[in-house]
Amino acid sequence: MIDNVRVAVVGVGNNTSALVQGIAFYRRTGSLVGVHRPDIAGLGIGDIDFVAAFAMSDDKVGKDLHEAIFLPPNNFPRLAPELPASGVTVQRGLVDSTEIGRVADALRHAEVLLYSAPSGMPETARAYAEAALTAGVAFINTTSDAIAREPLWLSRFEQAGLPLLGDDLASQFGTSVVHHALLRLLEDRGLTLVSSYQVNLGGTEDFRNLVENPNTKTQSKLNALGSDKVQMAPLGYLPHLKSQKIAHLNIEALGWAETAVSLEVRLKVHDPSGAAGVNIDLIRLAANALRSGRGGYPAEAGSLLKSPPGTAI
Ligand SMILES: NC(=O)c1ccc[n+]([C@@H]2O[C@H](COP(=O)([O-])OP(=O)(O)OC[C@H]3O[C@@H](n4cnc5c(N)ncnc54)[C@H](O)[C@@H]3O)[C@@H](O)[C@H]2O)c1
Repeated sequence: MIDNVRVAVVGVGNNTSALVQGIAFYRRTGSLVGVHRPDIAGLGIGDIDFVAAFAMSDDKVGKDLHEAIFLPPNNFPRLAPELPASGVTVQRGLVDSTEIGRVADALRHAEVLLYSAPSGMPETARAYAEAALTAGVAFINTTSDAIAREPLWLSRFEQAGLPLLGDDLASQFGTSVVHHALLRLLEDRGLTLVSSYQVNLGGTEDFRNLVENPNTKTQSKLNALGSDKVQMAPLGYLPHLKSQKIAHLNIEALGWAETAVSLEVRLKVHDPSGAAGVNIDLIRLAANALRSGRGGYPAEAGSLLKSPPGTAI
């Protein structure tokens, strides 16, 4: 019998809500619908225990994790009427390097730190990565801020024998993976790409933040596609969409005898579900690498991330 993975999470936002509720859902129902990998190194979907959680909003700090995930501005739906108390009290997080010691101390029971704060706060991301190094836990950077792409951070985690997974998770069935698959199909079938674009609309706090502060997200999305012919329209924040995201993809290409081919795709998903479906795999890969004594970036995480080591910052 393998021990459950002990996870600490930074950011009690929509993605944490979808992850926490989803794990409870799969434990309760035994369903495997929507699960990419039921088993990773002997670890199932339900084999995760949350041991610490960090937030910054006064509303969430001091609350039980299972209460805090439902507080605004989170708008991922409630999946079940009842979620018994988790026993994990949300603690105040940090914003810079001044409180690394306190956070590292709070990580003493954790094996993996899942960093799920807003993108666009590089100093904060680095401070939590430092806390993970101090505490001796694996670090997963789900945001587009560069940590795993920074050679210095990667070598520090390698030397410490601690896994570092990042940057920027690639949603389970989101715009990046669908767009990438279609571009690859075009190439495989011998067509020539002329131009392509993505339009992304959403109603989450993440979208609101990224509209105001596109920061590293645009580059990270382009990293996931690997083509210089793709353009990203500015993200659109539409609050009435709540946790749903709508993406439009356009591809213009040339086929036989240079005749035109045009493809339009509309994708509608719950954005936090797409994140949770990948975070559950990143957590188990991180725990397995840690338990096997493998520090640095585990190559098996590659398809789950938009901007792994070696991609542009
Ligand atoms: N499909 C997806 O949803 C997807 C895909 C790729 C990457 N991401 C990234 O995942 C991250 C989380 O997304 P989300 O939708 O849960 O965002 P969110 O805004 O709902 O949640 C982030 C939470 O972190 C909190 N926070 C802010 N500063 C903090 C700090 N210093 N310490 C602790 N908590 C802090 C915020 O108050 C908020 O509750 C974002 O960076 C997003 O860009 C999401």
